[in-house]
Amino acid sequence: MKFNQPLYDYVLQATKTFEESLDTRPVTPNTVSVKNLSCFEEPLSKKGAEALDVIKMLYETGEPGVVSSRGGRYYGFVTGGALPVAVAANWLAASWDQNGGPSVMSPTSAKIEEVAGNWVLDLLNLPKKSDFSFVTGATMAGFTAISAARNRMYKQLGYNVKEDGIRNAPKIRFIMSDEIHPTNIIALQYMGYGKSELEFVPCDEQGRINPSLIPSLDDHSIVLLQAGNVNSGAFDPIDEVANLVKDTGAWLHVDAAFGGWVRACHSRSFLTRGMERADSWALDCHKWMNVTHDSAIAICRRPDAISEMFGVQAAYLVQGSLREPNHYTPELSRRARGIEIWATLKHLGKDGFNDLVERTCNHAKYIAEELEKLGFEILNEVVINQVVATMDDDKIDDFITTVQKSGKTWFGPTYWKGRKAFRISISSHATKKNDVDIALSAIKEAIS
Ligand SMILES: Cc1ncc(COP(=O)(O)O)c(C=O)c1O
Repeated sequence: MKFNQPLYDYVLQATKTFEESLDTRPVTPNTVSVKNLSCFEEPLSKKGAEALDVIKMLYETGEPGVVSSRGGRYYGFVTGGALPVAVAANWLAASWDQNGGPSVMSPTSAKIEEVAGNWVLDLLNLPKKSDFSFVTGATMAGFTAISAARNRMYKQLGYNVKEDGIRNAPKIRFIMSDEIHPTNIIALQYMGYGKSELEFVPCDEQGRINPSLIPSLDDHSIVLLQAGNVNSGAFDPIDEVANLVKDTGAWLHVDAAFGGWVRACHSRSFLTRGMERADSWALDCHKWMNVTHDSAIAICRRPDAISEMFGVQAAYLVQGSLREPNHYTPELSRRARGIEIWATLKHLGKDGFNDLVERTCNHAKYIAEELEKLGFEILNEVVINQVVATMDDDKIDDFITTVQKSGKTWFGPTYWKGRKAFRISISSHATKKNDVDIALSAIKEAIS
């Protein structure tokens, strides 16, 4: 295969220009750049185009329409900015074009994912022998873990759901807070449940489940908790709920999409107390771990529960000598996404990870203090990287739009406990004190 030097040289230069612009470019694209994306709407050509011309068009027309979520002033949703080491690992893995499913298709990916998964268990102090699954996002990580939970629960009840289906199966109850992230409900809907079949438990003012309102549990119950509310960042009292689950035969799952990483931070890991007692966990890696999209991990304490659900058997699928990644994921073929996780963990180490979480949480605390000085009402206890703030209800929409249009920072709206509010999530290694100050200056300008 001939190396296409001009093509890759161009991409390297384009990446350099983009990365170097991140500190100064507007956080969101302007309307002209978005309008210009219509240039992509051309008929599919018969003859195709030179690779370099394709990539030039992608850069010249596509790059101005990109959101600078990788920079230090993007505080929307819960968005990590990919570390350079993660981007570089992603490139190399893309160039290898490995199928991360069967180990015979990529011993390198199979081995590296095994190591990366075990490092995550070590970093988060979760049971050492747990199984793990590398998937696209926390939605799929939740789906993977909860499907495995249901399958294992049915097995223990003597019912083979994979063979006999869900229609005549004994009822399993799903119990969660009314603040559970909606993607858990979607995951259950994939699994065939309607929302009206799920049991929702009220929360306190921070969005933490009220354990005293959890119904009695048994071996037909799956409890879903949350480590990190998407608005407030609050943690369900996992230890207390684990006490209720203990000896009942119920399964405890924790959606720890971003909050789970707080376990790697010395000063705040107490917030996750009891998380290690759960049966399964879902964590995003493209959020606070700062790896490239898309990336998440489902973890399960019960040996083989994930592979019993998802392991695909077929005569042509040969067993390699290594761990078979595809036995643990809903997909058979997929990209080798564990490689970026390995590279990021190797680069940061435990100290670097502690520092990443600590630093971003401190920025959130600082921004909340400054917002309060400016007259905003902070609606949440700022326990980690999330700030929910509000002002006069009639003015908030205009305020958010004005800040977004400034191009200096970006955060979005929410409702919190019946109040219209805005939410700030600081999840990127790229955020520095100077970025937060620029964001605050945009906020000051918007209210002046
Ligand atoms: C608590 C929680 N769970 C699940 C998700 C869904 O994650 P993803 O978008 O990676 O599927 C999110 C996203 O913000 C979240 O905050």
